[in-house]
Amino acid sequence: MATLDRDIDHILVTEEQLKAKVNELGAQITRDYAGRDLLLVSILKGSVVFMADLMRAIQMPCGIDFMVVSSYGGANTTSTGLVKIVKDLDQDLSGKDLLIVEDILDTGITLSHLVPMLKLRNPASVRLCTILSKPSRRKADIEPDYLGFEVPDEFVVGYGLDYDENYRNLPYVGVLKPEVYSK
Ligand code: IMP
Ligand code: MG
Repeated sequence: MATLDRDIDHILVTEEQLKAKVNELGAQITRDYAGRDLLLVSILKGSVVFMADLMRAIQMPCGIDFMVVSSYGGANTTSTGLVKIVKDLDQDLSGKDLLIVEDILDTGITLSHLVPMLKLRNPASVRLCTILSKPSRRKADIEPDYLGFEVPDEFVVGYGLDYDENYRNLPYVGVLKPEVYSK
């Protein structure tokens, strides 16, 4: 077993399931956005793997852009709900149909603050596409318009999601063994 896989307790979403779902989402987005000026907005770093797969499953012209956001006050204060733009988008959004691409919708606090900030820039529309969602954790009034999989209230890694900046490169979504956290 490879060193990364060794830390995984169980797999929640397999590589095959991810691939099939991303193709499905890509086809749906292609149908829904036909004739529109689609711009995929990837929130770094967690969405990088999903973004790379999803953009290739979309079969129409579209732009891509990247954004880094962080919550004021650091890791444990997301509940304060203030978002800081660390790296902004490169382009003007007016008239564009924005599709925000994210790894997971957890409490929803980050995106519930980011979406209104982006709407102030006069895009034609703003929608949200996440590969994972933890509905039981939701605190803000926001749901994905396009969703891959619902996961239980467990901390997950892989397919872009990290624990302490590791495991993003696992090709599946899994749960870490408890002893990994006490290392
Ligand atoms: P929230 O929806 O504002 O609570 O924050 C969502 C962000 O928290 C995601 O974009 C992830 O970066 C991170 N996150 C939430 N749940 C998990 C998880 O289970 N594993 C890894 N990162 C997570
Ligand atoms: Mg993260």
